[in-house]
Amino acid sequence: MQLTSTFPGSAVMCMMLLVSSLLLWEHAASKPTGVVSTEDLYDRVVEQSHTTYNLAADIYHEFDSNFFKITWFPKRMPRLCHTASIHTPESRQEVNETKTEDLLKAIINITNAWEEPLKHLVSAVTSLPKPSDNMLKTANTLKHKNLVLLEGLKTILNRTKIVYEENDSPVWSGLSEIQSADEDTQLFAFYNLVRCLRRDTHKIDTFLKVLRGRVIYNNECLF
Ligand SMILES: *[C@@H]1O[C@H](CO)[C@@H](O)[C@H](O)[C@H]1NC(C)=O
Ligand SMILES: *[C@@H]1O[C@H](CO)[C@@H](O)[C@H](O)[C@H]1NC(C)=O
Ligand SMILES: *[C@@H]1O[C@H](CO)[C@@H](O)[C@H](O)[C@H]1NC(C)=O
Repeated sequence: MQLTSTFPGSAVMCMMLLVSSLLLWEHAASKPTGVVSTEDLYDRVVEQSHTTYNLAADIYHEFDSNFFKITWFPKRMPRLCHTASIHTPESRQEVNETKTEDLLKAIINITNAWEEPLKHLVSAVTSLPKPSDNMLKTANTLKHKNLVLLEGLKTILNRTKIVYEENDSPVWSGLSEIQSADEDTQLFAFYNLVRCLRRDTHKIDTFLKVLRGRVIYNNECLF
């Protein structure tokens, strides 16, 4: 799904809005969270989600170029992502028709569902046949950024007075495979994990940019 590229909007206008809101964040950052404006909160989560997606894409590409095996297919079937049961809109129109709170809830649900697998991603990197310092650093940063993002999202949702059932996210069940003594099983499980991570972080980044456009800029800035 490439939602981002289908949204129109004036890049220059968006740049100006972005720069001015980043300047605002500098001032807000020194105040306690309670008084940070919703606009600043959105800028902050979009910044986090953008970085998170880039890191997820990095780790995916590094894995892909070092360990991916074409011989996996068609013998092995890529697994459904553990977050597949969380309903998210599939088209631009469906996004538009989804209420802000519902989209936020789905984003939080996905982010929450990654907390556990991201912990295991870090140890999975160290047990790869050729552990890479760069991948290890990226996996650690991802684990941290995911938590920061989750906090920011909860703060935003809290302002809508919606109650969210914290521990109700789908559970990842790939642990035994990613710790398997069989190298091929282990690598294939790793591949599925980073593939899903890249997909989900991209979704989250796209949706948050849409929400920021809707909530903060009244849809004048959809990018
Ligand atoms: C998160 O998604 C799962 C799977 O669809 C669902 O069962 C659960 O209720 C959702 N949690 C929240 C808090 O919306
Ligand atoms: C989004 O929905 C609103 C009504 O809620 C409608 O006016 C608008 O045209 C829709 N935009 C798109 C791009 O579908
Ligand atoms: C949620 O909002 C209430 C006020 O509406 C505030 O007292 C509380 O600290 C907030 N909780 C979080 C986790 O931000």
